[in-house]
Amino acid sequence: MNASGGGNAPSSSDTPQASPQGNQKLWGGRFAEGTDALVEAFTESVSFDQRLWRQDIAGSSAHARMLAKVGVLSGADADAIVAGLAAIHAEIEAGRFVWQQTLEDVHMNIEAALTARIGDAGKRLHTGRSRNDQVATDLRLYVRDAIDELVEVIGALATALLDLAEREADSIMPGFTHLQIAQPVSFGHHLLAWREQILRDRARLLDARKRTNVLPLGSAALAGTVYPLDRHFVAAQLGFDAISENSLDAVSDRDFAIEFVAACALLMVHLSRWSEELILWSSPMFGFVKLPDRFCTGSSIMPQKKNPDVPELVRGKSGRVIGDLNALLVLMKAQPLAYNRDNQEDKLPLFDAHDTVNACLHVFTAMMPSLEVQRAACRAAAAKGFSTATDLADYLVRKGLAFRDAHHACGSAVAYALERQCDLAELSLDELQRFSALIEADVFAHITLEASLAARQTYGGTAPTQVRAAIARARAAG
Ligand code: ARG
Repeated sequence: MNASGGGNAPSSSDTPQASPQGNQKLWGGRFAEGTDALVEAFTESVSFDQRLWRQDIAGSSAHARMLAKVGVLSGADADAIVAGLAAIHAEIEAGRFVWQQTLEDVHMNIEAALTARIGDAGKRLHTGRSRNDQVATDLRLYVRDAIDELVEVIGALATALLDLAEREADSIMPGFTHLQIAQPVSFGHHLLAWREQILRDRARLLDARKRTNVLPLGSAALAGTVYPLDRHFVAAQLGFDAISENSLDAVSDRDFAIEFVAACALLMVHLSRWSEELILWSSPMFGFVKLPDRFCTGSSIMPQKKNPDVPELVRGKSGRVIGDLNALLVLMKAQPLAYNRDNQEDKLPLFDAHDTVNACLHVFTAMMPSLEVQRAACRAAAAKGFSTATDLADYLVRKGLAFRDAHHACGSAVAYALERQCDLAELSLDELQRFSALIEADVFAHITLEASLAARQTYGGTAPTQVRAAIARARAAG
């Protein structure tokens, strides 16, 4: 198909031909021929930016009301526009709206439908406005909604972790550094660590929201407009906190999208870390958790397999969102002021990051409550690997030895126990006393797993009493 010719005519990309009708586009006045079909398909964005229809209609309604307020439009025209847009809103919502690629993008599809519906008043809507400030406004409204949605889901996931942490406050697992057994910790404490990560993500999103919630509309194409627009009125109607300061910046700025996707990417990095742990923990080699069957899938060849596909996919999808961030950064790099069509490419990475994070948050929120912690296996693992060696050193410090000397004495005791293939707590008092004369019978009360945990009473430490205190603080903070 080509847009300008017909029959056996060579394709319009080989031989440019003027369409007898000129160009029927909303911007077609200065064009002598129709758009090449290839170019039309290449430049269109309605296939993906139709997703902005709610924001586009809200922005146009506010713009029309403002134009009437300042006397640029008659009240009757503004009423017709607002009512027409409401009807289009209902039509799109009901799935009855026909999107047309020839109309290029969401903005012109809706504007054309409005004019078809209400006549000349529809043609007056775009007074004092450009698609450049229009799309910037739509996108900011979109990101603001996306932030509010994600903040909500993060809250639900944080609560799920809190509940699980409460259930597992007394469960003992090995804490790792270098993925080597380090010191015993409360399983609940580990879950609260995850929670801290996503609380920071939530704070980052809310911080980005402040810079997102600034109205660009009124900047027009790049320089502002000759009409006496009341930008504050539009801002108030759309719930923006402020209006942009500089028209050139306002139409070209996509920092808010980058900040949003950056927060999404970091959130995904966190979820990828949890995923990695869940994948390791659910392997029989660890056996720390059982993922519910309904969150796992099987193998088409190996009948025994139960695979942790959900965390694996979350881990994999983290790469997508990091890619989305990269795409946006590179999109904006070296772009001269003001609007450039490059910016049309901001949408897919933005939408993809939003959808991906949303889906990952939902599936983890659904899965967490039924995570089955294998307490005995966790405890047994913590009992291996001399996880209470630090407690023995701390015991000697309390008996008066300098920490560095205590560290050395315990190191020798560990080497001895390693040779005997037993744990420190399994050595006899006589054996232990070979490493320091300060060791007495009370030592055994200090080097059990429970004693090790209970002793870590610092604020934010892993003692179950501290874990419970942290949970109480979190619940009080709401
Ligand atoms: N579809 C365009 C975008 O997403 C809308 C703005 C077009 N502006 C223009 N001057 N062609 O960026």
